[in-house]
Amino acid sequence: MELCVIKGDGIGQEVVPVALRVLRQVIPDLSVTYADAGWDTFERTGNALPAETVQQAAHVKAVLFGACDSPPYEVAGYSSPIVKLRRAMQTHANLRPTRFLPVPTAREGIDLVVVRENTEDLYIGDEHTAGDGNTGTATKLITRKATERIAHTAFQLALSEGRKRVTIVHKGNVLPQTDGLFRRVCFEVAREYPDIESDELLVDTAAYWMVKDPARFDIVLTSNLYGDILSDMAAAWGGGLGLAPALNLGSDVAIAEPVHGTAPDIAGKGVANPTAVVLSAAMLVRHHWKQPDVADRIERAVYEALREGDYTADILGGNGKSTEAFADTICGKLN
Ligand code: NAI
Ligand code: MG
Repeated sequence: MELCVIKGDGIGQEVVPVALRVLRQVIPDLSVTYADAGWDTFERTGNALPAETVQQAAHVKAVLFGACDSPPYEVAGYSSPIVKLRRAMQTHANLRPTRFLPVPTAREGIDLVVVRENTEDLYIGDEHTAGDGNTGTATKLITRKATERIAHTAFQLALSEGRKRVTIVHKGNVLPQTDGLFRRVCFEVAREYPDIESDELLVDTAAYWMVKDPARFDIVLTSNLYGDILSDMAAAWGGGLGLAPALNLGSDVAIAEPVHGTAPDIAGKGVANPTAVVLSAAMLVRHHWKQPDVADRIERAVYEALREGDYTADILGGNGKSTEAFADTICGKLN
């Protein structure tokens, strides 16, 4: 088993080693290579995602990614490395599950997966500013090919996990040429899966229900931007961003990557919660390396560690122990 590890910036440096420690414990012959990406890399080399990193990731086909700082304003030559890497590796799906975890901030009964299209929509980054500097436009790309691919992923996941319903989320009433196409193609694919129920929600209504009654969702099938937003909302019900895992999945490649970012407010303090990245690694083991028993072991250990109240992050109101101490607890429960 081979893994390319990209820690990135901020708490990525602190939490990724925990996931690696867990993986090494359950897969003793794991072979690991390291690669660089992120803001720090950009400042050192002028490139946030060096070509060697992409080559290495594509060669190894399995990546564990922390998070990278991206400023919310334009910096010449800089763009989000993870968005580029997802496209370069053709990880067409981003699976973002939220399940109940035994922490005070989580909601009982929640068990959903946001299946987010990962290669197009506004995330292609085709933006322009008009000559006067006061008008910006962005291209929203939706294609039949990518929509069919993500819809099949969602329905296949429903079948493999014994789930009952896929909810297609879009804004087809306002954007019939793009979201309307997404909706139409998703329903076409849905007809090939008669045993799985399918329904639809406009994205604003979906956001309302995600706040009011998140347990009503099973699989949410949606485009890139809506999936980004709805999965962060769902993460709040799962206990917080420090607990929310994700997996970018292609036909024979995968990037495990927590939903959270670099958490500059707590970076360097050794208190970041490693749960999200450890559970992301478990998803890689389950869906890419196809070792569900090993993934179950990791998830059970995390669940038991959380149940002991040994978690760390401020957003969880834990008992103030460190990332390191929590890693010890998880590893002690792996059996
Ligand atoms: P964030 O996810 O980094 O932080 C939001 C809040 O959640 C903060 O209060 C943070 O302390 C907390 N938090 C996040 N992860 C945590 C953990 N593991 N344990 C405990 N608390 C945790 O989002 P924010 O602040 O919007 O973004 C910070 C930077 O991260 C930005 O530069 C952004 O571009 C980048 N980012 C990168 C991503 C990636 O590379 N995949 C994804 C999201 C954001
Ligand atoms: Mg996000």
